[in-house]
Amino acid sequence: MRTKIVAGNWKMNTDIKEGVILASEIDSELKNITLPEDVKVIIAPPFTHIAFVEQVIDHKKILIAAQNCAAETEGAYTGEISAKMLKGMGSEAIILGHSERRAYYHETSETLVKKTEQVIQNEMIPIFCCGEKLEEREAGNHFNVVKNQISEALFHLSESDFSKIVIAYEPVWAIGTGVTASKEQAQEIHKFIRKTVADKYNQKIAGDLTILYGGSVKPGNARDIFSMPDVDGGLIGGAALNADNFIDIIKAII
Ligand code: 13P
Repeated sequence: MRTKIVAGNWKMNTDIKEGVILASEIDSELKNITLPEDVKVIIAPPFTHIAFVEQVIDHKKILIAAQNCAAETEGAYTGEISAKMLKGMGSEAIILGHSERRAYYHETSETLVKKTEQVIQNEMIPIFCCGEKLEEREAGNHFNVVKNQISEALFHLSESDFSKIVIAYEPVWAIGTGVTASKEQAQEIHKFIRKTVADKYNQKIAGDLTILYGGSVKPGNARDIFSMPDVDGGLIGGAALNADNFIDIIKAII
C-alpha cells in the first residue's frame, strides 16, 4: 500500500515555546479529523524542540521527523547529532539531503549514503530530498539531475532497505519563492522518478514508493497538486508554520 504523507519542515524557525504551541495547535485541530489509514502527518521541528514537542502530540496521529542527522554513528564529531540520539528523543523519520543542506552545508551524495544508512539502521524513515536548480531546469537537465541525486545516494540499497525510503521532489526554484511547480510539472517528474525506481528495482517497489512534492505548497494550491496520480503528498515549509494552514493542507489530501 502506498502511504500518503503531509510533512511540515519547520526549518530554523520558532523557539521552544513557540514550537510547543504550534505542535499543540496542530495536535488539537487534528483531534477533529479522522485520518484515513493510508495518510500520515509528520512534523519536523528543529533538533532542540523534539523532546518537548514529542510530549504534546498524539503519536498515533503525528510522527516527528528531524531535519538532518550526523553521517557517523558516534564519537569525536563536535556539534553533530546522531540518528540514534534523535531516535531516542522520539524521532521516527529524518529529512535528508534538503537542497538548503546541499547548498549551504555542501552535503554530497557521498555523505547522504552514510546518513541514509544511519537512519535505516536506527529504524526511522529517511525522507530523501531531490530537485533541480532553476538553471538546470532551463537547460532541460532536470530529469538527469534528479535521477543522479537518487541513484548516487540510494541505488546501492537492497530492495528491502529501499522500500523504507520516502522521496521528496523539491525543485529549488519553487522553495520559499511562492512559485509552485504546476501540477503537470510535478506529475511529470514524479512519474519519471517512479519509472527510474521501477527500472532499478521493480514495479512493486516503485508502485509502493511515496513521492512527496515540496515547494511553495499552500492551502490554495495543495488540492490541485495532490490530485495528480504520482504525487503522494507534500513536504511543506512556510505554510507548516501556521497550524490552520498546515491543517488545511492535510485536509487537501484526505
Ligand atoms: P516552502 O514550502 O516554504 O517553499 O518550503 C519547501 C521546503 O523546502 C520544504 O522542505
